[in-house]
Amino acid sequence: MAICAGFATEKNIGLTHCNFSHASLKGHSVLNSPELLDQALILGQIEPQARNQLKNLVIEASLDSTNSALQRLPTTEQHGTAILAEHQTAGRGRLGRPWHSPAGGNLYMSLGWCFRQSLAGLGCLPLVVALSAAQALTRSGMEKHRVKWPNDLMLDGKKLCGCLVEVQGSAREPSHAVLGVGINIRMPAEETAAEISQPWTDLSTHLPDCSRNSLAALLLEELIVQLSLFAEKGFAPFMQQWEKMDGLKGHNVDVAAGNRMLHGIVTGIDQSGALLLDTGSEMLSLRVGEVSIMAACSA
Ligand code: BTN
Repeated sequence: MAICAGFATEKNIGLTHCNFSHASLKGHSVLNSPELLDQALILGQIEPQARNQLKNLVIEASLDSTNSALQRLPTTEQHGTAILAEHQTAGRGRLGRPWHSPAGGNLYMSLGWCFRQSLAGLGCLPLVVALSAAQALTRSGMEKHRVKWPNDLMLDGKKLCGCLVEVQGSAREPSHAVLGVGINIRMPAEETAAEISQPWTDLSTHLPDCSRNSLAALLLEELIVQLSLFAEKGFAPFMQQWEKMDGLKGHNVDVAAGNRMLHGIVTGIDQSGALLLDTGSEMLSLRVGEVSIMAACSA
């Protein structure tokens, strides 16, 4: 039995899938979940201007990875397509790490977006995605979460959300980005403790009544609005919001840079989205993808 019918009443929403049923989720803890992802509920909560930029909303019971599924589509079909899954069998995190993705309680979403800018102009894109997710969480009622550069969302020093930004393109062509966001909402603790290497928290611990469908709608709306702004004006309009949500500024951090370990105080970011680290002897500017923050965050 299909639990949500196709939805194509908006002009730009063509092919839509909702490819799962209660039966297909047997064996997953989702059967006890109060709320399955629902295409119509999500679309109905996105304001029309943003919804009109969404071409496709696909919901699957189980996928290897929503980022991988989107990347398997021709690039011409990726822009404006969002894929959500109840469960990922091979969820991917940054720097080749796995993203633990049990069924039924969390949010796993990827959105495809095409930019006129070449790859070189998209260095701040991971930060924009993190700010979009942060704003969606704020609008859902969260207060104390902060962004840990470049794109983790933290609460009380524990990870709440991660973003995986993958971009294809060259110096001359438009760039095709796949923007993956994973938000811990209701993490089944018993099966998780051993599988996640870092401290984590989930949204329902802080907001017990949060709705996955509402959060999915807020996240899509924020992503569409912020990505459009970034495509038009670059990162400058986001600097102020970064300042407000920056969870690292003023903190002592350990940073792994290849086989070197750096120590210093974070003083903020520059216009290119690079992290500014004061080591005491020099001011370093560290680019996304080159380094990994090992410790410290205020949120
Ligand atoms: C990280 O913090 O390392 C990034 C985690 C990104 C996880 C999301 S879940 C949806 C999308 N599909 C994936 O396989 N990964 C991203």
